[in-house]
Amino acid sequence: MGVETWLLVATVAVLAWLYSSWRHSYWSSRGVPSPPALPFLGHFHKSFLVDRTCWIFLNEMYNKFRDSSMFGTYELWRPVLVLWDPEVIKHIFIKDFDHFTDRRKFDLNTGNEREKLSMEMLTMKNGAEWKSLRAIMTPTFTSGKIKSMFPLVCDKADALVKFSMKEAAENSHVDMKNNFGRFSMDTIASCAFGIECNSLIDKNAEFPRKVEAFFITSLTGYIKMMLFLLMPKLFKFFRVHLNPSEAEFLIDVVRKTMAARKAGNKRGDFLDLLLEARDDPNNPNSKQVLGELTIVAQSVLFLFAGYETTASLLAFSSFLLAKNKDQQHRLRDELQQMVAEHGDITYQAIMEATLLDACLQESLRLYPPGAIMERSCSKTIKLPGTDLTLKPGDLVQVPLWSLHHDPRNWPDPEAFIPDRFLPENKGNIRPFTHMPFGMGPRNCIAMRFALMEAKVALAKLLLKAELEVAPGFKLTLDLVNGLMRPKDGIMLSLKPVKE
Ligand code: HEM
Repeated sequence: MGVETWLLVATVAVLAWLYSSWRHSYWSSRGVPSPPALPFLGHFHKSFLVDRTCWIFLNEMYNKFRDSSMFGTYELWRPVLVLWDPEVIKHIFIKDFDHFTDRRKFDLNTGNEREKLSMEMLTMKNGAEWKSLRAIMTPTFTSGKIKSMFPLVCDKADALVKFSMKEAAENSHVDMKNNFGRFSMDTIASCAFGIECNSLIDKNAEFPRKVEAFFITSLTGYIKMMLFLLMPKLFKFFRVHLNPSEAEFLIDVVRKTMAARKAGNKRGDFLDLLLEARDDPNNPNSKQVLGELTIVAQSVLFLFAGYETTASLLAFSSFLLAKNKDQQHRLRDELQQMVAEHGDITYQAIMEATLLDACLQESLRLYPPGAIMERSCSKTIKLPGTDLTLKPGDLVQVPLWSLHHDPRNWPDPEAFIPDRFLPENKGNIRPFTHMPFGMGPRNCIAMRFALMEAKVALAKLLLKAELEVAPGFKLTLDLVNGLMRPKDGIMLSLKPVKE
């Protein structure tokens, strides 16, 4: 190469570097602190869709910038505001929700049905489309409707306990994360797809095998995701698939079940409730909003949103109870008393079991499955209590893990203290410092269902088994697709409880 060419390359490199530095001065020019950024990449390599330990990075920065209540990062050149002041959170998630109705936007529509399916999910909808779909789906998750699924959940929890006890009798310890995963899969398959897949018993059952394809994390999967984040238009142009081919299997299952429901085979599950919502004579709009693919998409979404999260909650809470035997014994006493009073585990009794609820809430505080919360600004707003103006598309993140572990919010934050969540103490909790299901109109639509499911499974397990941590087992955490889970399972020994 000649000198001129070298000079040209050097000039382009310097100009690119200057441009990148200018883009990365967005936060400093607004008086918001920001950790050192890499040229071009910014903090992209540490962002929550890319790095599995990003909550550790966010937590370090949280502690570093604790007193400023916020800091800024860059996903490449895109500014992201990370904040945790409860007053500001209240504005974003509730008071000024109209300005923050959306999450990060992904345009996955490659023109293929597999990706159209993703775009029809409630989580992917934005603005007015999200609002009308959420309004139609919300009645599906009321206490009364969830109660109709209680017997289905109890059946699956009985199978979980039976299977785990049998495994425990034959082995010194059991991977309960695996078993809770299969329980969670069977429950969602039953409640959202109307099929009995018995993955606990039949490890090679077709349904779990196909579903696993969505949750397997591989290097190529990561690279594909990163490339998609960097060049979504190119993916669209070449109609590259993002969902595995197994998506077609799931679409087919729901379509067949829907056809069977038309013939009158009702079970009171999510699918029935969505079909009922579609045919609601009081809402003429619902048929248009809940088309066939949209209903299929919600069933698949329930699987994505509910499978890993519920399994992780159960895994973490059983681990914490195994580690804290005194709390385990207290909880078992409450459950035994409940059964003595009600004759069995009933819906009402389980919903009134205060220590059971407190143990799950405390587990969700220590290990929130969704460790980072996000909103995208949809209408320009001056952020209350600050001089910052956010524009449409600007991203805001709440580092939930850090908020849940902050000693200013939680005395002795690393200790498992369920009493914090007992009715007599709940009033001491600072609002907007505990939000494992998110907050406001866009919170987890299935929170009541998820808690009911976890309560039934944990109660049934504890009534039969004394939980102990397997010798040498150490919990390690992993964050995959923004969800926190135990990396190497949860190894417990289960000893039968004397009845
Ligand atoms: C322990 C279990 C669960 C946890 C911790 C959890 C947590 C969350 C969180 C943190 C969000 C985001 C909320 C926000 O942005 O404010 C969310 C949204 C959502 N969750 Fe859950 N979830 C759980 C179980 C479930 C289950 C079982 C289902 C379905 C059956 C489900 C369906 C959804 C849906 C559809 C959304 C999106 C709501 C919307 O965009 O309007 N979740 N969940």
